[in-house]
Amino acid sequence: MPDLSLPAHSNKYFLHGLIQLARHRDVEVVEDICAQNGTKLVARGSRVDAGFYERVANHKLARPIETSVVAADLPGPEIYRREAERLLDTFPFVRCICDWSHGRVSPVDMLAEMRFSPQAATLLAVAEQRMPGMRSHDVLVSLLGMGLANVYRYNDAELLAAVGIAGMFHDVGEAYVDPALLRAERPLSPREWMSYTAHPIIGAALAREVGGFDSLVQRGILEHHERLDGFGYPRSLREDGFSIAGRLVALAETLSALVQKQAPCRRIDIALKIMPGEYEPELVSLVSDLIDEVGIEGRDRLETLGDIQASIHDVFMRIARVLAAHDMVQVQGRGMSARARGFLDDVFERFVRVQRAFASTGVAGLAELGMAMSDEEFIEFQFEAGCVLDEIAWRLMKLSRELVLQSATLDEGDRRLLMQLAEAMAGGQGGAGTGAAQDSALATL
Ligand SMILES: [Fe+2]
Ligand SMILES: [Fe+2]
Repeated sequence: MPDLSLPAHSNKYFLHGLIQLARHRDVEVVEDICAQNGTKLVARGSRVDAGFYERVANHKLARPIETSVVAADLPGPEIYRREAERLLDTFPFVRCICDWSHGRVSPVDMLAEMRFSPQAATLLAVAEQRMPGMRSHDVLVSLLGMGLANVYRYNDAELLAAVGIAGMFHDVGEAYVDPALLRAERPLSPREWMSYTAHPIIGAALAREVGGFDSLVQRGILEHHERLDGFGYPRSLREDGFSIAGRLVALAETLSALVQKQAPCRRIDIALKIMPGEYEPELVSLVSDLIDEVGIEGRDRLETLGDIQASIHDVFMRIARVLAAHDMVQVQGRGMSARARGFLDDVFERFVRVQRAFASTGVAGLAELGMAMSDEEFIEFQFEAGCVLDEIAWRLMKLSRELVLQSATLDEGDRRLLMQLAEAMAGGQGGAGTGAAQDSALATL
């Protein structure tokens, strides 16, 4: 595990969030806030107000501020239950995954019974204040994670509880990231990407120091963006280092984005099959069983054959640009460092897998036959092609981001070379991670 201590200086985005929260409800200082040199900065019993930032921001603190502030009248577990029930009513797949474990503990009941310390509940309130809608996302990931855990390790109550809590806190570290960066409609710099991808580490440190949660919960949070094939972040873990709690939360997080889309079962089916090796195979097969139980639904995609063919052409063009950029990097990068070469080979290998996955779906060949299909076949094909194209575009964007991130630690010459490949993968004239594509990337992270 990496060092999971919070820094001695408070995070300014968290402080802004706390002060914002204090405009709506009382936030009390429950313990003296002291600098490391012993100076008392804020006395116990005072309230967080507009001047709070000035009093604490530039000091090294004896203890993290998050352990000393408590908001009054925070919503209790009832609000989690209500949100869980709303999600169950809105998304049939979520209901199925929660009903799946007949007779075992209900994820909704588990959620309604969760009790957090006032400091930990205050953290969640600050996150919701900073990012409205976060609570709903947390509840969804928590429900899905517990639903999966219930079937995967049905008699492991400790794991079930840990995954539920990790789901609730998995993105709390985002409250420590510049909100302008979360909303950015421009390419993010490598430094900005790095600060975003630190959110699982911050979240795990908060779980330890503020929540008092055990290492199962910490790892569930820390590893929620890892992938079994080593292409996740922040630590690019592979099989051995990737905990069960982390694997469950990572899959729950991915499912949380897919279940909210049209025809979730089919999307999940395609997303999990198109790039095998990212998630725990036993979990993937459990999800496939569930999909069979729920049944394949909805096929009403609206693209015309012309739209599909144009999108396929775009994917081919993008692939061609990546191959050309890779050739160019090979030629110009003869003197590249071994690390840069390692990143390049890793990402290119992954790109080749995406390319193969695209070819293996056969959508390009079928699009050529489009006019010869029956109406029924065409409707089926429309849907399938739409899902595949979305998934491939998303995968390429993700690869581009990984390359941008990894490039940040290289020297200028190597970095510039790899950024050209990243731009080609992002599909744009524009650069890695632009506009709407980047938005959707962040939304599903
Ligand atoms: Fe998330
Ligand atoms: Fe996240």
